[in-house]
Amino acid sequence: MSLIGRLKQSLPPGLKSRLRETRHRLGTLRNKARGYLGRPNVYQLGTPERVGIVFDNPSEMNVSERLFLYSLIRGTRPHRVLEIGSRHGGSASIIAAALEDIDPRHPGRVFGVDPGPEITVPERKFFGRFELIVEPSPQGITTARQKAGGPFDFALVDGLHIYSQVKQDLLGVLPHMADESYILLHDAFHYGLSKAISEVVATESRLFDCGYPCGKPWMEHPLLAYGGLRMLRFSERAVTDPQRFIEREAELLHKAAPPIDDDLADHDPFWHCRAIEPCAYCRKTGQGKAAPKT
Ligand SMILES: C[S@@+](CC[C@H](N)C(=O)[O-])C[C@H]1O[C@@H](n2cnc3c(N)ncnc32)[C@H](O)[C@@H]1O
Repeated sequence: MSLIGRLKQSLPPGLKSRLRETRHRLGTLRNKARGYLGRPNVYQLGTPERVGIVFDNPSEMNVSERLFLYSLIRGTRPHRVLEIGSRHGGSASIIAAALEDIDPRHPGRVFGVDPGPEITVPERKFFGRFELIVEPSPQGITTARQKAGGPFDFALVDGLHIYSQVKQDLLGVLPHMADESYILLHDAFHYGLSKAISEVVATESRLFDCGYPCGKPWMEHPLLAYGGLRMLRFSERAVTDPQRFIEREAELLHKAAPPIDDDLADHDPFWHCRAIEPCAYCRKTGQGKAAPKT
């Protein structure tokens, strides 16, 4: 028997369990310290989580709208983003930070169309991902599309806030949108804007109105409400097929994509089949209770 084995055997039983408990506590403390020290500093441009950009930002959007914009960009992973109305560069810098946070190797870029920009956001906050086209919408959209090299998979419409212009913006954007893309419109609680959006949606079968995911109107004017993000989905079909996303990720990770198999529809080895009961697939394949998630 080794020296450590002999030492362990010679310990009184109470001391042994106290030592085990102490080791467990130290492990927990070490993991907590690692988590704390490993936390990203969201305000530093050099760290991989730059969501803090939503707070120190000259955009006229409120914080929940900025967070939604950041999350939607980060989640939908667009390659070509169109922005109508850039002003100080606030929303463009949020988009650029979200694109950078997807992965510094992600090729996503944002193309701003604005006839009178007053960019105050420093260049470094765009991560080389922002290009400005100093032209009005809708004419500037064609230039943006040429520079982008393909259709847009995301558009933010936040230019001139009147019915007739937003209708032109939206109609101008549509021929340049990729299938399964998103359009966000800011200040869509202005009744004129809301009317323009609804009218365009009514005439375009590929547009699906997702309503107001950011639903706080700005009420400081006696005649008009502003604020709010209205979201549109531009797609040939109403339902999205998850297969395309999964296969693309499998290719990226050099892995086989999970099979499409109806027998797996009730299979969930991480919770249901382990903690509640084995599904038909588990019983058929003799798996019984699956291994816990590691
Ligand atoms: C509300 S600001 C944009 C704010 C910006 N999206 C942000 O959140 O940081 C509106 C901008 O739209 C621009 N604009 C006005 N008419 C326009 C047009 N026809 N096409 C594109 N932009 C326009 C203005 O010059 C102004 O800079």
